[in-house]
Amino acid sequence: MTTTARYIHAFGPAALTRFYDTGVRLLIREEAFRSRLLEHMHLAPGQRVLDVGCGTGTLAVLARQRHPGVEVHAADGDDEVLAIARDKAARAGAGVRFERAMAWALPYPDGTFDRVVSSLVFHHLAPDDKRRAALEIFRVLRPGGALLLADFGPPRGAAGRAVAWALSRFAHLRENLADLLPALLTGAGYSDVAEIDRMRTALMPIAMIRGRKPLAAP
Ligand SMILES: C[S@@+](CC[C@H](N)C(=O)[O-])C[C@H]1O[C@@H](n2cnc3c(N)ncnc32)[C@H](O)[C@@H]1O
Repeated sequence: MTTTARYIHAFGPAALTRFYDTGVRLLIREEAFRSRLLEHMHLAPGQRVLDVGCGTGTLAVLARQRHPGVEVHAADGDDEVLAIARDKAARAGAGVRFERAMAWALPYPDGTFDRVVSSLVFHHLAPDDKRRAALEIFRVLRPGGALLLADFGPPRGAAGRAVAWALSRFAHLRENLADLLPALLTGAGYSDVAEIDRMRTALMPIAMIRGRKPLAAP
């Protein structure tokens, strides 16, 4: 499956990818963010987890370090960012299985994963591609498994609304700013969809949205 949308690299233009880790450390409270994501994933030994749009692999490596009994897979559409991620995992001695893949064409059989996480990726996807990615993640989740989606949500307050209005001309951000990601997951078949956490950052707030694949999937 293809798209006509432009590929948006980790930090926008490909030339900035090598500055991604530094930028994230400066712009969001990264340690708190990653730790909260991992807590919300409720990982347990024997589970298989996938990080979609894993970027430089920080979360996947941390997941493997904190939960050595969990099989960690990570996919991203960009070879350059994957090279950084593979190097990071090797230096940490963390066995993460990386694949190059677009979020809407994941190279795993149906029902492979107990958990899927995708952080700060959906605002890189055009509206139709967000929907395709949500459906593809649903496919690779096992019935009863859960997706944790973390991405920019609508800023609150008058100043925040002004920022949202200014940014809403960017089509990729429109659903984030209009708080439509939960509805998008529900539309893709997920149940129990809820925003379970929200974190303020120097940019916009990050909403953490959970959705489950029902035991009897439609
Ligand atoms: C802002 S970075 C987030 C990286 C990481 N998840 C994190 O939390 O730091 C967005 C990532 O999404 C990846 N990406 C963008 N479009 C994608 C697509 N269509 N399929 C797979 N990955 C994609 C980019 O290559 C980039 O690594």
